[in-house]
Order: sequence, then structure tokens, then C-alpha cells
Amino acid sequence: MNQAPVSREAVLSELERRRSLDPDIHAGRLFGLVYPSGREDVEELIREVYESFLFHNALNPLRFPELNAIEREVIQMTADLLHRTPTERHAGSVTSGGTESILMSMLVNRARAQARGITAPEILAPASAHPAYAKAGHYFGMKLVQIPLDEHFRADVAAARELVNPNTAVIVANAYSYPHGAMDPVEELAALAAENGIACHVDACIGGFVLPFMEELGIEIPLWDFRVPGVTEISVDIHKYGFAPKGSSVILHRDDDWAWLQTYFYSEWGSGLYATPAIAGARAAAPVVASWAIIKYLGIEGFTEITATLVEATNRLRSAIDAIDGIDVVGEPIGPLLALSSSTLDLFGVGDALEARGWHANRNSDPKGLHLMLSPVHAPLIDELIADIRGAVANHQASTSDEVRYS
Ligand SMILES: Cc1ncc(COP(=O)(O)O)c(C=O)c1O
Repeated sequence: MNQAPVSREAVLSELERRRSLDPDIHAGRLFGLVYPSGREDVEELIREVYESFLFHNALNPLRFPELNAIEREVIQMTADLLHRTPTERHAGSVTSGGTESILMSMLVNRARAQARGITAPEILAPASAHPAYAKAGHYFGMKLVQIPLDEHFRADVAAARELVNPNTAVIVANAYSYPHGAMDPVEELAALAAENGIACHVDACIGGFVLPFMEELGIEIPLWDFRVPGVTEISVDIHKYGFAPKGSSVILHRDDDWAWLQTYFYSEWGSGLYATPAIAGARAAAPVVASWAIIKYLGIEGFTEITATLVEATNRLRSAIDAIDGIDVVGEPIGPLLALSSSTLDLFGVGDALEARGWHANRNSDPKGLHLMLSPVHAPLIDELIADIRGAVANHQASTSDEVRYS
């Protein structure tokens, strides 16, 4: 490094200029990736809390016992939300995100399978499952077996039944899936897992902070959480619809002993016992404490209010899209996520036209189309979005690229 010092002003102005080259995260023109709450009071609270824990390290619970207690309260509040029976010990851990939560669950499931004598453990997951399961397979030497989807883009239970074999360590169910917003038949998949004495991981990374509040609103939601017998793990991201800054997810286990299986212990190095519940060593405390603050501040009532806004915005968007000739909503999305497909229109061309109007709509490859995941900031912009989708459908060119990248 041969960086000569520059002034504070120069640092700030360069970063401000460079940040402005990327999309504005608060403008409501992005779908997924960022989840602004649309509430200035919430963001102000986060900023204040974040700053006061900016340099803390969540690594050593003995050195920062109060920080550790705050983290355990985040886990406990999330566990309560998902109807896990309260216990003395701990239910899981806070991780850096959905991927790390899934990795830790798959690691525990590998250990449980190995304890049953399985030497080549498999993950049986819907074809719509997040790449984190493939990553877990790659990291931990587990084979990923895909469950085909049914005509509603949900995991096909009959096909899953055919694919279960003596090496299956865990069956995965989405509540709900990223590509299509589809709710897998969790009760049936969990029952299949239980019948075979294996685990069932529910991926509620997106749905975990949406579905409970939809239920509060009186919307009928099939059971998917710890109320379902056979569900052994749930991953739920606070940094998505919990509106926390990036770096906050929770992995929960039904059984305390399984949560302990996550912890890695080592003492052969000259500085004593070292123990961590997940992949990270030194770990940012600020996202954990910000999660605690948001959950306390919004409470069930606040989250439910925000979810009502999301549901209303999704319903308006859905009705408008249903009325457009040539565009279909894929499957039966349960939450604020619409995948769009078409047999007559070049939806990637429509996506390019939306891009020209300032909307960063994501692309799906299967079925080919667009992917719109709503945040509360989209609610006031729904009429504009609908008008622009209509305009883009009426007036677009052939797509400039067929490339689909997760974004
Ligand atoms: C269903 C689902 N699971 C897991 C993840 C992974 O989460 P993260 O990006 O926080 O690692 C995502 C991310 O979008 C997701 O949609």
C-alpha cells in the first residue's frame, strides 16, 4: 500500500460521489437486496444504536456478557415469534445472514447423519431452494438432490418421497421461495422427514418476518414454523423483512442439544479455550444490537402495521398485472414477491424498458421473466410502477441480453 493521507473532506466527498453512482437504496427502485422499512423513525433508531456499538466485538461472551445477553434475547424473541417452546439453554445463534444460517444448519445435519452411521449425507431440497444449500453441499461434502417443483412451483411431495434414501440427512422446505414466492408444503415435507427419522429445515429467510404478521392480519397461512411436528431447524433473516442492517440472521433448532452441535471448540494453541457458534471469529455486534432495538421498538404491532402496507401494495400490483394481456404471475405467491412470465411477450425486453424508466427489475430464468420483491418503500410508488409496467409492455424493444444473474 502506498496511500498518502488525504483529508477527511476528500475521503467523504469521494465516497459520496461513488455511492451516488450506484442505485439509491431508499428510492424504492430496487427489488430485493435491500429492504428499507420506509420509516425514518426506525432508521434513526438503527443509526443511533449502530453507532454506539460500532467497534464492539461479539466474539467473546465472557468479556461482553451484556452484549451476549442482548444477542440471546434476539434469538429468544425470534424463537417466540416462530413458536419454539422456550427452554433454559439456547435455541440457536445469530449469524451474518441467511447463507451462514443455512450453512450452520447443514453442518449440524451432517453431524446428526454421521452419528446415525451415514457416510455420504445428502441434502434433499426443492429445485427452487437458495444456492446456499448447494454451497453447504460444496463446503461440507454433502450431495444436493433437487426435488422437482409441481405446477404451482412448490416442492412436489410425491417426488420427494421417491428421492428419500438411506443417505438423506435433511429435507428442505421454503417458507417461501426466492424465485417464485411459493410456499412449499411444509407440513407434508416435515411429516416425510419425521417418518424417515431425518431432519427438516424450513428456509424462512425471506418469510420469517412476513408470514407471522400476515397471520396477525387474519390472512390464512398454512402452518410452517415450529408448530409443525418434524420441523427441526428454521433460518430467518432479520436483515430482510426485519429491516435490520446487513449482517443479521437467526438459525433456530427445535432441540437445545442440536444448537450446541453448531459450536466449534478448540484449545490446542496456547491461548486457551476458543469457542464459536458459527463461522465467524471476530464479529460485528452492531447488527445484532440493531436487530434487538428494532424488534423491541416495532413489536408485533409495528411489524404487523408495516406488513399490512406491504400486503396492500402487493395486492394492488397483482391486480394491475393480472389485467395486463400477456403477463402471468407465476404460481401462487404467498407474500410480497411476484415472479412474472409470458408466452407472448419478451419480458426481458420489458425489463430493459423498465430499466430505462429507472426501475431495477430482476430477471428470472425459470420460467423466464421478471422478479419483483416489494419492500415497504414501494408502497407509495405502486401507481407509478403499474403505469411504467403498462408503458413498458406497450413500448419495448427486443431484449438486449438473455443473461440472468441473481441480484
Ligand atoms: C429464501 C432465501 N434463503 C436464503 C437466502 C440467503 O440469504 P443471504 O443473502 O442473507 O445470505 C436468501 C437470499 O435472498 C433467500 O431468498
